[in-house]
Amino acid sequence: MLLQTDWYDIQVKIIGIETSCDETAAAVVENGTTLLSNAVASSMDQHVQYGGVVPEIAARSHIGFINPVITQALTEARCTWDDIDGIAVTYGAGLGGSLLVGVLAARTLAITKKKPLYAINHVEAHLYASFLTQTSLSGYHLPAAQPNFPLLGLIVSGGHSQLVFFKDHFGYKLLGQTQDDAIGEAFDKVAKLIGLPYPGGPSIAALAPKGNDRAYTLPKANMTGKYDFSFSGLKTAVLRLAQAETGQSLDFPSSKLSELLSEAQKADIAATFQRIAIETIVDKAILACEEFQPKSFIVGGGVASSQELRKQLSQRLPLTPTYTDPKLCTDNGAMVATLGCFKAIHKQPMADPYSLEIAPNLSM
Ligand code: KG4
Ligand code: ZN
Repeated sequence: MLLQTDWYDIQVKIIGIETSCDETAAAVVENGTTLLSNAVASSMDQHVQYGGVVPEIAARSHIGFINPVITQALTEARCTWDDIDGIAVTYGAGLGGSLLVGVLAARTLAITKKKPLYAINHVEAHLYASFLTQTSLSGYHLPAAQPNFPLLGLIVSGGHSQLVFFKDHFGYKLLGQTQDDAIGEAFDKVAKLIGLPYPGGPSIAALAPKGNDRAYTLPKANMTGKYDFSFSGLKTAVLRLAQAETGQSLDFPSSKLSELLSEAQKADIAATFQRIAIETIVDKAILACEEFQPKSFIVGGGVASSQELRKQLSQRLPLTPTYTDPKLCTDNGAMVATLGCFKAIHKQPMADPYSLEIAPNLSM
């Protein structure tokens, strides 16, 4: 095992490529600590009208963006391919057509530029964004120090809600996860129900301060697994609440409810749902802190940028969580490159650029 102090002698620059959903992203990271560039192009504007990501549109958009984004990441980092020590690419989990574009680009570059290739699990990578502590790029608020092991990691995104205990790099145990919807997905669905635009998390976060977060009673799921989550019951409870508030029957279509809800009712639903959804996560995080006594607590994924989550964690956790910049919470290449750096530093297995396949259903 490498001691933390040994890393400082190892110089490694990795380019990370991320195309698992609707962001085409590439970034260069040095030594797993320093962000040199972070290029992101998103096809989000093309999905908004459909209320969610359309896989076919996302995949086509990656094809257009991938080369310019990689070039931008190198240029911003003032690097040429000669300076790059390896390529890290997300190979799962994610949308098949989207993953394929990034993986094929990375495989081709690994072969033609003669660079080691590291296959990255997107969910693990979300947590590694919190290891970045330095950058000369403007507009980033990074943690002052890297997290310490043992640590607890919480991944809260549109596709994942997981609580993980890390003894060390590459030595982790999945404590629990959602048994149905991911928390971000629940935000997206509740937002749609009350007529707010996609992505639902930021929309609900913007409306919630105008409402009363104690206006209604909403349930928190009781799970068999101590650290498991569930959000589908909460989502259904919001639907039933909206039907009751507007005087409609249980078979009234959810797509028509937003027209009947008043602005005040929408704000109260947003505020109460947001508080309960976040409490559901934070309750489990507290239990895990009591049992595992971590030295650090880190959060990754799009929902990690939620101010409500940060407020509740900071108020209720027995240790101060490590938060990274919101730009590094949503999908990005920097988190992929950072995990790639640690794989290179810790001499983890490389991927075969001639045969690396995508793994859309990859889990932790
Ligand atoms: O990590 P991410 O960019 O993509 C996935 O890997 O899923 O996360 C996107 C998710 C969306 O569901 C979005 O609604 C949610 O993150 N999100 C938030 C906030 N910002 C983004 N959820 C709650 N509060 C926020 N402030
Ligand atoms: Zn993600």
